[in-house]
Amino acid sequence: MNVAQIKKVACIGAGVIGSSWATNFALRGYPVCIYDIGQDPLAVAKKNVASNIAFLLDKGIVNKEEAAKAEQRVSYTTSIEEAVKDAQFIQESGPERYEIKRSVVVEIEKYTAPDTIVASSTSGLLITEIAKFAEHPERFVGGHPYNPPHLIPLVEITKGEKTSTEALQCAYNFYEKIGKEPVILNKETLGFIANRLQLALAREFMDLILTGVCTVEDIDKALLFGPGLRMAILGPILTMHLGGGAGGAKGLYTMIRESSQMWLKDMAHWTDIPLEWPDVAQEGVLKELENRPAEFGKTPEEIIKFRDNMLIEILKMHKKL
Ligand SMILES: NC(=O)c1ccc[n+]([C@@H]2O[C@H](COP(=O)([O-])OP(=O)(O)OC[C@H]3O[C@@H](n4cnc5c(N)ncnc54)[C@H](O)[C@@H]3O)[C@@H](O)[C@H]2O)c1
Repeated sequence: MNVAQIKKVACIGAGVIGSSWATNFALRGYPVCIYDIGQDPLAVAKKNVASNIAFLLDKGIVNKEEAAKAEQRVSYTTSIEEAVKDAQFIQESGPERYEIKRSVVVEIEKYTAPDTIVASSTSGLLITEIAKFAEHPERFVGGHPYNPPHLIPLVEITKGEKTSTEALQCAYNFYEKIGKEPVILNKETLGFIANRLQLALAREFMDLILTGVCTVEDIDKALLFGPGLRMAILGPILTMHLGGGAGGAKGLYTMIRESSQMWLKDMAHWTDIPLEWPDVAQEGVLKELENRPAEFGKTPEEIIKFRDNMLIEILKMHKKL
């Protein structure tokens, strides 16, 4: 399969991720059929797709005609056969359980050509295990999005032991074509790239708070108004390259080698999230919300609106919308 042969897409699972993926595919011109096990999740997905598109219309990212066409490109079914039979690319976003994903694999293989690409949105399961009983495991890849996939560009593409290079490359080309920023992981790795980075950071900020160095609000402030602002513009290594002046990244990392040894020894190394952390996080964030300006939003709904409005502006500047 190559990307030019992809004419139709199927989404398996119509939840948070499946409906957002469908929005993305439809906005990029692909007819997409969403399958779920019942009419209720499909009805919710239909509403989600409509509101995702309405938001982009409201923001001027698409015009009325494009919005209407995108909505018409999405169909909904409780028949997996109908969804996948003439699709060349399938995005599986069912529940995060091996037995469900494996049963979906069996169903997909009944109705598709052997070279149809199947990408799983799985956040942490191994493609080798998902495709363990597949007749054609070579066409199974991981296509891990960041929520919501119709806005966040990153897709982490992962392979199983039997995934073919052609399938990986086809998934890469397809995601690129629909405006994503795909990265391919060369080895099966727990947590992939971005969630490992997030967790490494989380361990350190949990530790700083639990050992009394600072509060939840201080951490949110320090990241948001410090490195976070730069990270929304440049990756962390490119940022360090600039910090190194004429010596670039090499100069900077050589310079900090000695002093960073002391910090690294002093930093958190535990592997079990402390039991008291969820309560500390909740209490801290509620306090932070008391101080948050009302115009930036206080309720989850208001904050999501604030976040998405700003996200749109950043994505426009990255030429991703
Ligand atoms: N939510 C996130 O932030 C996020 C981010 C990245 C990846 N993911 C991954 O995406 C996948 C879906 O997550 P979600 O958050 O959309 O979950 P969700 O619970 O919102 O949606 C799952 C959908 O799958 C449907 N379903 C149940 N059994 C099914 C079956 N046998 N066949 C097909 N569909 C079935 C459910 O009815 C539901 O609509 C998971 O693998 C998850 O790890 C989630």
